[in-house]
Amino acid sequence: MFEKVFTPLEVRGVTIPNRIVFPAFQTNYATRDGFVTERVMKFYRNIAKGGAGLTIVGCIAVSKDGAGATNVLQLTDERHVDGLKKLFKEIKSYGTVAGAQLIHFGRQTSSSITGHPLVAPSAIPCPVMKETPRELSEEEICRIEDDFTNAALRAKNAGADMVELHAAFGYLISGFLSAYSNKRTDKYGGNLENRTRFLKEIIEKVRSKLQGTLIGCRISAEEFVDGGLTLEESKKIVPMLADMGIDVISVGAGVYQSMNKMAPTKEMGEGPYVYLAAGIKEVVDVPVICAGNILNLRFAQKIIAEGKADLVAMGRAQVADPQIVNKSKNGLLNSIVECDLCNRCMYWVTGEPAMSCPKNPNL
Ligand SMILES: Cc1cc2nc3c(=O)[nH]c(=O)nc-3n(C[C@H](O)[C@H](O)[C@H](O)COP(=O)(O)O)c2cc1C
Repeated sequence: MFEKVFTPLEVRGVTIPNRIVFPAFQTNYATRDGFVTERVMKFYRNIAKGGAGLTIVGCIAVSKDGAGATNVLQLTDERHVDGLKKLFKEIKSYGTVAGAQLIHFGRQTSSSITGHPLVAPSAIPCPVMKETPRELSEEEICRIEDDFTNAALRAKNAGADMVELHAAFGYLISGFLSAYSNKRTDKYGGNLENRTRFLKEIIEKVRSKLQGTLIGCRISAEEFVDGGLTLEESKKIVPMLADMGIDVISVGAGVYQSMNKMAPTKEMGEGPYVYLAAGIKEVVDVPVICAGNILNLRFAQKIIAEGKADLVAMGRAQVADPQIVNKSKNGLLNSIVECDLCNRCMYWVTGEPAMSCPKNPNL
């Protein structure tokens, strides 16, 4: 049963034991200073124990001005490495490959949270957050590229097998990629070559420091806002990233203005973004991760069997039941606690202090 799901995938010398990914989730379980807590440990321990092939920890902020949630993990300082070292060691002990997603929130946060003025490619407020950011100077762009590089090196030193650059959902890197939020007239704005420059410079710097560690990149292949990225444009961006040495592409959709597309609603049905992953897969040879309303291994198996993606992220489904992969493998389908896409886990929408799930009292 589910033999495609349980066929390992070799990516540049790293063997991912099965095709199910736990994608990055901002849980808000870290300390105010971005350190790993026992709650973080417990959460990822349960996911790893439950059988995911690739467990992506995070998001993890690369700089204080990019730490856009009150209790987001950070790698802004060497002092953050120890906690993550323990975390990666623990989750790897269950056989899962460990990833670390690196983020700068850009304009999709509030200066009252970061304690710093918001920064973005252009001085245009996010329609949801409504705070006008400052346009980054070239010098600051270079500094943030170095922040990503330093954080990536710290993630590697902490034991991550893969570093994922968060270039999706309207946060800083994707803000540069998209003409919706990037109105610059210098070498970082305008045509696609220029809008991808910030990300390409990050990849180049990170790659130079990270031999032997996989580098992934998450994008919103379709932003569902006027002037935003479309699949057509994303199909031009992704080959550039693969040419620069990105090993895995993770496909998401949406920005804050189209929030219900970021974690798709129940009404959108099963796997609404499979076509996006399949479209991206047409233009690159590197493995592609598909995400969005994939709630069981039967559907994951279908996606892989049809060649629409190489890896399948199951986020909310594993939050609701961290054991879903092993239960499915062992034929215990009736004991699976199913996610019903209520989106109570989106704590920033419900007003709760951190992620919870009505199906999982153990968080
Ligand atoms: C509570 C919550 C937190 C999330 N945090 C992140 C994050 O930090 N980074 C990221 O790339 N995606 C994040 N996402 C998006 C998920 O990784 C995933 O793409 C989305 O939930 C769709 O997959 P699913 O239907 O399997 O849950 C988050 C989603 C939710 C619901």
